Amino acid sequence: MDLKQSIAELKKEKNAIILAHYYQIPEIQEIADYVGDSLGLSQIAAETDADVIVFAGVHFMAETAKILNPYKKVLLPDLEAGCSLAESCPSDVFERFVKLHPDHTVVTYVNCSAEVKALTDIVCTSSNTLKIIESIPEDQSIIFAPDRNLGKYIMKKTGRDMLLWDGSCLVHEAFSMDKLLALHKKYPDYKIIAHPESEEHILKTATYIGSTAGMIQYVKAHPKGKFIVATEAGILHKMRKEVPAAELIPAPTHEDNTCACSECAFMKVNTLQKLHDCLLNESPEIEVPKHIQKRALVPIERMLELSK
Ligand code: 13P
Ligand code: SF4
Repeated sequence: MDLKQSIAELKKEKNAIILAHYYQIPEIQEIADYVGDSLGLSQIAAETDADVIVFAGVHFMAETAKILNPYKKVLLPDLEAGCSLAESCPSDVFERFVKLHPDHTVVTYVNCSAEVKALTDIVCTSSNTLKIIESIPEDQSIIFAPDRNLGKYIMKKTGRDMLLWDGSCLVHEAFSMDKLLALHKKYPDYKIIAHPESEEHILKTATYIGSTAGMIQYVKAHPKGKFIVATEAGILHKMRKEVPAAELIPAPTHEDNTCACSECAFMKVNTLQKLHDCLLNESPEIEVPKHIQKRALVPIERMLELSK
């Protein structure tokens, strides 16, 4: 029996659902029940009646699904699927930082650990950060963590001051401004679209800035458009599938790597074989200590409520 067929049978037998992020390899995106951005995936995780959730994404995403479903089995094909941005915010250091600013509302981007979420007032994703920040009274001071690039972008958009944590994503900081400008000079009719985790100078060049789902929507709205895409290259699979007539070039990085694009090594550790095996063995499983789960659930539910 081939892997795909076996996955389909195991899924049925175990009443499982497969959720995949847009940065996953095409084979995984193709067999997933739902492919989405962080917000979409957490919304599906909050509503599913499956007994087992296989999360084809990275650790913080599976952990968020577990926080929302403490009594369900949540599986991650490879526990090595971490996130450089989440790692840039260790919970013990963040706790001391939060304690130094007790009058601040703490907003954290979903790319962080369950322990950091447990120290948070409201979670956000790149889809809803603007809405979440605008829901907080203007005279209320805010700590925003862990992504400094998204934080700076939102500060510029809202004109609000926020206390920023100095974290970032290696994948989105790999784009080379010089190469991007050279590419744009060569293809002047291409528009640059970017994820807000990218650095300020890259965002300045962009016609559209948004979450992965937002970027796909933007390309869909311009089906014959030509775009240079500044985010993880896995997104191109969905864009090409949804909008075959669009012309897409991944934004170049400092490194001269084989794909001439930026790839998230964490997202790419998941394979179809590992996904199959984790469903078969019901392992590796995501566990969150009860006291952390209870505290981390509050800011996630606030986000989901504000995103309706
Ligand atoms: P999105 O929520 O926009 O999909 O972003 C997730 C992520 O990890 C970006 O690097
Ligand atoms: Fe984390 Fe960056 Fe990978 Fe997204 S692309 S999962 S933020 S390391």
